[in-house]
Amino acid sequence: MPLQHLSNHFFAQCFLVTLLVTLLSTSSDACGKPPRFENMQLNGSPKTTYVAGEKVQYSCRPGYMRRPTIKIYSVCAANGQWLPISKDACYKKSCPRLDDPNNGQVNFVNGSSEFGTQIQYICNPGFFLIGEEILYCLATGSDVQWSDEPPICSKILCAPPPNIINGVFSPSHKDVFEYHEVATYQCKQVPGQDELSLVGERQIYCSENRLWSANPPECKVVKCPHPVIKNGRLTSGFRKKYSYRAMVMFDCNQGLFLHGSNTVMCEGDSTWQPPIPTCKSKPPPPPPTTSVPSSTGTALDFGDSKGWSISLIMMAMLEL
Ligand SMILES: *[C@@H]1O[C@H](CO)[C@@H](O)[C@H](O)[C@H]1NC(C)=O
Repeated sequence: MPLQHLSNHFFAQCFLVTLLVTLLSTSSDACGKPPRFENMQLNGSPKTTYVAGEKVQYSCRPGYMRRPTIKIYSVCAANGQWLPISKDACYKKSCPRLDDPNNGQVNFVNGSSEFGTQIQYICNPGFFLIGEEILYCLATGSDVQWSDEPPICSKILCAPPPNIINGVFSPSHKDVFEYHEVATYQCKQVPGQDELSLVGERQIYCSENRLWSANPPECKVVKCPHPVIKNGRLTSGFRKKYSYRAMVMFDCNQGLFLHGSNTVMCEGDSTWQPPIPTCKSKPPPPPPTTSVPSSTGTALDFGDSKGWSISLIMMAMLEL
């Protein structure tokens, strides 16, 4: 049986070759785990070693699309390295191109609408965004989609501003105020009673986020105490009652120095601001600014404390 003999011989040879390849591959020719890619994944689980000539197949990861002309497998080469494989085999899918919303813009912040990018919506002035400001192009199953429905830009309208005690606003008959529309407050005056002062903003307007530009004002009786300065006097603003925003000025008796501001104002909380100054025998510490007023002796300003101090010094010098 020569044929039988030949077959046996061939079989033995094959066995030897396989044994040799296996021996060699477990030593130096074996490839390690196949390389990983951002855009491609290995079909099946990776083995720890591969023999030379073994082939691994990849497929595109979610969010990526196959470019059929480019091979998407690698082969374990005789030197133990995986043959290079082009990343171009899988490219990013794109989410549907979205148009600008009415009264706003869509901003392709990454310059495209590919998988993994984001877009941002901005509304025109006078409009506000309803929905998500930023959408992401995400992989969903075998496709890519925007993370949300596109938002819409809606006209900014404000609810009427708050009512206040002892005051009214106009226009008063409206249910909604348009963007930048103004409401003007006024205090109710009751004859025979103390006058009410409007403290705060007289006018506020419908603004961003459908909020009013400021808190409404208050209508209240503002009555500051009679301004008293020891060893000094009022030089202007004297009156019987001191209401909101009344202003008075002070001066010290001759030879004394004013500490504080020579002008104070009656504020909404019925106090003088800044506080009423005091008169002392010592001059106040010099202010941090070093601007020296030009005093030539003839035109001295007696209105402020600096002028006073200069004139006092001059008088003292003359007496010597
Ligand atoms: C897209 O642009 C945003 C804003 O500039 C940036 O934070 C983000 O990393 C970019 N994403 C990609 C995928 O380029």
